[in-house]
Amino acid sequence: MLKKKEKYIVAVVGATGAVGNEMVSILEERNFPVGQLRLFASERSKGSTINFHGKPVSVEVLKDDVFEGIDIALFSAGGQRSLDFAPAAAKAGSVVIDNSSAWRMDPSVPLVVPEVNSHDLMWHKGIIANPNCSTIQMVLPLKPIHDAAKIKRIVVTTFQSVSGTGMKAMNELHEQCTAFLNFREITPKVYPHQIAFNCLPHIDSFLDNGYTKEEMKMVNETRKIMGDQSIKVTATTVRVPVFKCHSESVNIETEKKLTANEVRAILSSKAGIVVYDAPQKNIYPLPIYVAGKDETYVGRIREDESVENGINMWIVADNLRKGAALNAVQIAEKLIE
Ligand SMILES: NC(=O)c1ccc[n+]([C@@H]2O[C@H](COP(=O)([O-])OP(=O)(O)OC[C@H]3O[C@@H](n4cnc5c(N)ncnc54)[C@H](OP(=O)(O)O)[C@@H]3O)[C@@H](O)[C@H]2O)c1
Repeated sequence: MLKKKEKYIVAVVGATGAVGNEMVSILEERNFPVGQLRLFASERSKGSTINFHGKPVSVEVLKDDVFEGIDIALFSAGGQRSLDFAPAAAKAGSVVIDNSSAWRMDPSVPLVVPEVNSHDLMWHKGIIANPNCSTIQMVLPLKPIHDAAKIKRIVVTTFQSVSGTGMKAMNELHEQCTAFLNFREITPKVYPHQIAFNCLPHIDSFLDNGYTKEEMKMVNETRKIMGDQSIKVTATTVRVPVFKCHSESVNIETEKKLTANEVRAILSSKAGIVVYDAPQKNIYPLPIYVAGKDETYVGRIREDESVENGINMWIVADNLRKGAALNAVQIAEKLIE
């Protein structure tokens, strides 16, 4: 358990990655009370440095015995590293906030979006899981609607940016766009197909039921975070050639009737949500404008005319920030409150 202190020793594991880099920036931006920052990555990053509050911090190689004295460890180095090292960190007394999917569905590990279920932080035993990026931005606006009208069913299609796959995928999109526009041959490396000027209805690996792991994460994590196993969820997750921000087309059916205006009113009053919805003036959330923002943007709110109590909406958030690094730092902020 975390002891109250003026300043904390904070570790970022996977500091050289897309999410890790963002974590360091967000700790700095939000003036998190960091007494000492420790940065970890693989052997490949040995000797590199990352600036924090204007000073270079050396990246260390991740090992089992590095966690002594670390108060909070933000993990973002892939599932295998989380499985291998998070228990050692927790045993050494650190509170681990893990970005990978390794611990999310473990019943002894809380899965937390602070605006939705910060009460679940009460029962952590040293490891807290940060949900999947697509799930975070969906449950944030859906929870207050669920509280007001009880959601029975969610149908979601995602349009997920390449930064969701990490640094290598961002480089791949860049390189493929350049190659395509210069009539050069494209050889996909990160994804099974060309991502430039294309859409791939395939995120993570396929399961026996025909869904991908990413789609089933949205189903299972949504129920765990919202604390309601009765909500029916079906998802189709699509990778699109966008650098930052995931977009989602979300359709919900509720027990109680809500009008589009009522939904706008509910969402407008909630922290972390911006209702950006004036389609007559071409105003709706767009990845290029939401990139770098902390809030989750919701627009195109309208009643689904094909069912009795249905609502459609379009949700966009920065997957590296609210979908990952910011949510993790917000959990840390709740812990020290
Ligand atoms: N990208 C997102 O939007 C997003 C959202 C939610 C969750 N996540 C999760 O966050 C994690 C990181 O994602 P990312 O997008 O930041 O990936 P990334 O850009 O590929 O970065 C991976 C990081 O992990 C480190 N790493 C890899 N193997 C390691 C090892 N054996 N020992 C120590 N460090 C090692 C890398 O260090 P080197 O530079 O030294 O290789 C790098 O710092 C993943 O579990 C991912 O599923 C990502």
